[in-house]
Amino acid sequence: MVVRSALLWLSEHQGAFDFVRGNPLTQRMASRFVAGETLDSAIDAVRRLGKTGTRASLDLLGESVTEREEAVRARDEVIDTLDRIAETGVDANVSVKLTQMGLDLDYDWCARNVRELLTHAKQLGIFVRLDMESSHHTERTLRLFQELHGEFGDTTGVVVQSYLRQSADDVAKLIAMGARVRLCKGAYAEPAEIAFQRRHEVSASFVELLEQLLTDGNYPAIATHDDPLIEHALRFVRTRNLSPDQFEFQMLYGVRRDLQGKLRRDGFNVRVYVPFGTHWYPYLMRRLAERPANVAFMAMSLLKEGLLRL
Ligand code: FDA
Repeated sequence: MVVRSALLWLSEHQGAFDFVRGNPLTQRMASRFVAGETLDSAIDAVRRLGKTGTRASLDLLGESVTEREEAVRARDEVIDTLDRIAETGVDANVSVKLTQMGLDLDYDWCARNVRELLTHAKQLGIFVRLDMESSHHTERTLRLFQELHGEFGDTTGVVVQSYLRQSADDVAKLIAMGARVRLCKGAYAEPAEIAFQRRHEVSASFVELLEQLLTDGNYPAIATHDDPLIEHALRFVRTRNLSPDQFEFQMLYGVRRDLQGKLRRDGFNVRVYVPFGTHWYPYLMRRLAERPANVAFMAMSLLKEGLLRL
């Protein structure tokens, strides 16, 4: 818990990035979770996944931008990503973070930015998922999503985090709207007043929301690598006679490739979230926070490297 909190704290402090980026070990660690710094490298990764029958969601890394120019640049890069998906015909859609599109600068300005992006996506017939960020952004993300869903329909979808206590209400509203929802546990440090803290509570909430989405939702995405939760989903789907084309499993690039393969072989849709770009630091820190073993591995390697230099 302490390690997780420390890593999540670091993820929000860009100052540490210079040290981390220059370090070959963290670069290697990042390359496990990030498909490269360029769109070309990301498309290569998507092609490799495609050969195994796995779909992708491309994520241009970046969040919490502080300048409008940065947000415009990010929007244009996402538009390039959409164009490249269309040109190459790879089986991929796109995920974006609203703070990358300027949510913290100005809500209406950000909305215009995202509308431009979605207009382009709709013309190309490519789906765009709005990722969910920390609880400072939940209300604004859901509000903007509701507006955009009214205008763009199934071109866009959103994310619900099972650790948030309010998520049962949000899921009910999203189901009533016919919105496409990705369900995940949630990756940020949130206080107990608004978020479940214990693993079993987060999982129980996941199960409850999962069952609602599978029963009444619109092509839900089950985004987890957690075996018991996936087994629960599979049992539920079997007892309800749901067909595999009514939902998909989603996992992160570089995580549980064994499980991705098994679900694919069993005939389920699997989509992998493929992050790329130069702004990989907060993303890497959140991935390390999820699994202390990753940190232990990194610490051991750093120690070995240090000993070799002695
Ligand atoms: P859990 O963390 O319990 O992991 C279960 C098992 O999976 C572990 O025992 C380990 O084997 C493996 N595993 C999980 N994470 C690993 C890691 N980093 N390295 C190595 N092994 C790992 N969050 C959010 O707040 N907003 C969002 O928009 C999204 N979007 C999103 C998309 C997709 C496709 C996925 C899969 C996840 C997200 N998340 C997210 C992240 C999510 O909230 C959560 O933090 C991670 O998925 C880890 O939780 P699990 O459900 O996998 O369980």
